[in-house]
Amino acid sequence: MKKSLFCNGLASLIITFFWISAVFLVPLTSVHAQTADTTFLRGQKLFKKCVHCHTYKAGQKHRIGPNLFGMFGRKAGNVADFDFSDAWKNADFIWTDETLDTYLLDPHKMIPNNQMPFDGLSRANDRKALITYLKTIVRP
Ligand code: HEC
Repeated sequence: MKKSLFCNGLASLIITFFWISAVFLVPLTSVHAQTADTTFLRGQKLFKKCVHCHTYKAGQKHRIGPNLFGMFGRKAGNVADFDFSDAWKNADFIWTDETLDTYLLDPHKMIPNNQMPFDGLSRANDRKALITYLKTIVRP
């Protein structure tokens, strides 16, 4: 008798646990997916500001600016066949989320005399969204 009570207790504990998981964890993960989606879509929209001047797929021709394909992990100002202005000759850093965030905040402050005609994105969330999106499309 005692044993079956115990079993029932354990069984209902397990069932309760699954219910709690279903009720709390499932919506949590879908909220997470939703924010990830929103960030991606926001980034995709913001990238429209860049595509006039930048291609991003392997082998595409440079436009006014260099093709951004494979840029993460690469040295800044160092793209084959693209003639960077002198401003970039002394740029001694690698493109990461952090360096691109600093760059996009104020491209002309980070690289004085930079010839990229873009004033930057002042909102941290916008920069984050753009970087998140860019990472998915320029990845080799
Ligand atoms: C009107 C044209 C134009 C727009 C718009 C523009 N860029 Fe540029 N970009 C350039 C040019 C030109 C350069 C090279 C500047 C130089 O040589 O001084 C450059 C350089 C860069 C570099 C350096 C690449 C490397 O490999 O080191 C990055 C990164 C970059 N742009 C990202 C962006 C992003 C992201 C956006 C959109 C928010 C953007 N650019 C918008 C023209 C543009």
